[in-house]
Amino acid sequence: MRAGSVVLITGASSGIGAATAHLLARHGMRVALVARRQDRLAALEQEIRRDGGEAMALPADLADPAARRRVVEAVEAWWGPVEILINNAGFGYYGLVTETPWEVIERMFTVNVLAMIDLTRLVIPRMQAVGHGHILNVASVAGHIATPPLTVYSATKFAVVGFSEGLRRELRPYGIHVTVISPGPVRTEFGRAASGLEVDPGKVPGGLAPEAVARAIWRALRRPVPEIVVPARYLPAIWIHQAFPRLVDWGATRQGRAWLRHLEEARRRAAEGSGSAPQGPAP
Ligand SMILES: NC(=O)c1ccc[n+]([C@@H]2O[C@H](COP(=O)([O-])OP(=O)(O)OC[C@H]3O[C@@H](n4cnc5c(N)ncnc54)[C@H](OP(=O)(O)O)[C@@H]3O)[C@@H](O)[C@H]2O)c1
Repeated sequence: MRAGSVVLITGASSGIGAATAHLLARHGMRVALVARRQDRLAALEQEIRRDGGEAMALPADLADPAARRRVVEAVEAWWGPVEILINNAGFGYYGLVTETPWEVIERMFTVNVLAMIDLTRLVIPRMQAVGHGHILNVASVAGHIATPPLTVYSATKFAVVGFSEGLRRELRPYGIHVTVISPGPVRTEFGRAASGLEVDPGKVPGGLAPEAVARAIWRALRRPVPEIVVPARYLPAIWIHQAFPRLVDWGATRQGRAWLRHLEEARRRAAEGSGSAPQGPAP
C-alpha cells in the first residue's frame, strides 16, 4: 500500500463505503467509487476532488455480471490494475425466512456474495502479475452470530467470512493480502434499506460512526491482518457463541422475537402515516 494506490470500493454511495473513500483519498489513494446511485457518487467524486484527491465515479448495479466486468475494465483502462479491492456493497432484509420474498433472497446473495466473489476473480490475475494486492471484504458480527430477523443476511455474511478465510490461504503464496472486517451496528442507511421504512441513520442504538469503520479499514491496509471485529467489544460474544452456541440460542431467539414485534408496530405506524421505525439488532 502506497500513496497513489488504485482502490476499487463498492457500496461507496453512502455509509461505510463513502467514509472509507473519503479517508483513503485523504491518504493519497486513487479511489474508484461503485454503487447504483449516480447522484451520490458524482457528489462524492466532486468532494474528493475539491479536497485535492483523485476519485472516479462508476455507477453500476453489481447484481449485473456485465456491469461488474465493465467497472474493473474502466479502472484498469484509466489508472491501471486494481491494487486494493474493498468489497463493501451489501444490504439486509428484516423478516422471517418464510416471510422474505424469494427475489430478495436471491438478490441479497447476488450482491452480498456472488458479486464479491466475481469482482475478486476479476482483479486477482492482475494482482498476481504485479506481485501485490489487498482484498478487503466487509462482513458483519452477524457473519459470526446469526441474528433473526436477519437470518438470510447472516447467511450471506457467514459466506463472506468463509470465502475470505479460504481466499486468504489461496493467495498467501502470491503476496496478496485478504482481510475480512466484521462491524457491529453502524450508523448508516442499512436499516432503511432492510426495513423499507424511513429510519434515521443517526439512531442506531450503540452504533458506530461509519468513519470508525473506515479507520479500521485504513489500519488493516497499513498493517494487514486476517480479520477485524469493530468494535472489539463484540469479540467475547463471538467467542462465547463459538464455545456455547446453545446458550446464545436463548438470547438471540428472544431478541429476534422482540425486534419483530417492534418492526411490525413500526410498519403499522408507517402505514398509518405516523413516523419512523426503530433500528434492528447488530447487522
Ligand atoms: N450498518 C451496519 O450496521 C453494518 C454492520 C455490519 C456490516 N455492515 C455491512 O457494511 C456494508 C456497507 O453497508 P452500510 O452500513 O454502509 O449501509 P448503506 O449506507 O446502506 O450502504 C450500502 C451500500 O451498498 C450499495 N449497494 C447496495 N446494493 C447494490 C447494488 N446492487 N449494486 C451496487 N451497490 C449496491 C449501496 O449503494 P446504492 O444503493 O447506491 O447502490 C450503498 O452504497 C454492507 O455490506 C453491510 O452489510 C453494515
